[in-house]
Amino acid sequence: MDSIQIRLRLARPEDGPDIWRWRNDPLSRQYSFNSDPIPLEPHLVWWAASLANLKRRTYILENELGEGLGSLRKDELETGEIELSWMIAPEHRGKGYGTILLRLGLAGETARCIALIKPENIASCRMVEKLGFSKREVGVYEWIGA
Ligand SMILES: CC(C)(COP(=O)(O)OP(=O)(O)OC[C@H]1O[C@@H](n2cnc3c(N)ncnc32)[C@H](O)[C@@H]1OP(=O)(O)O)[C@@H](O)C(=O)NCCC(=O)NCCS
Repeated sequence: MDSIQIRLRLARPEDGPDIWRWRNDPLSRQYSFNSDPIPLEPHLVWWAASLANLKRRTYILENELGEGLGSLRKDELETGEIELSWMIAPEHRGKGYGTILLRLGLAGETARCIALIKPENIASCRMVEKLGFSKREVGVYEWIGA
């Protein structure tokens, strides 16, 4: 895998169907705090609102062909912290992309970040451990800068 060819860019309206597909994958649903399957139409309404939300930034990890590999969301909380959440396209899991996504997403970030991760989500727990998060409590990890 050549990470030099990979970039993180801001999400666009046309990313909505990819996000929908990744989000409805069984593993994503299992590790999400809302595990219900989501039909496309309400998802697209939610997606438009999500892109318009000034307290939220969503990024897409893409390869040199412009193919979407995964997404990272940053939500600004009232505490000033950023809550992070992420997913990798099912067909691209287990190739190191999740780690790259989070590393790129943290580059230049100055706010304290948190991530809520179910303890059984081993891959996400590994990602945050490798990237210097500490465990605040069960299921809550925090990152206070490089
Ligand atoms: C979690 C997720 C983003 C990981 O992405 P990924 O690209 O597969 O992760 P990586 O390949 O970078 O692997 C990260 C670490 O987890 C390990 N890992 C990957 N898949 C694993 C699995 N199924 N079981 C156990 N460990 C796993 C890797 O070995 C690596 O650890 P290492 O560096 O010690 O070898 C991806 O599985 C996913 O999208 N899951 C569904 C959505 C989700 O869980 N979102 C997070 C909610 S908080």
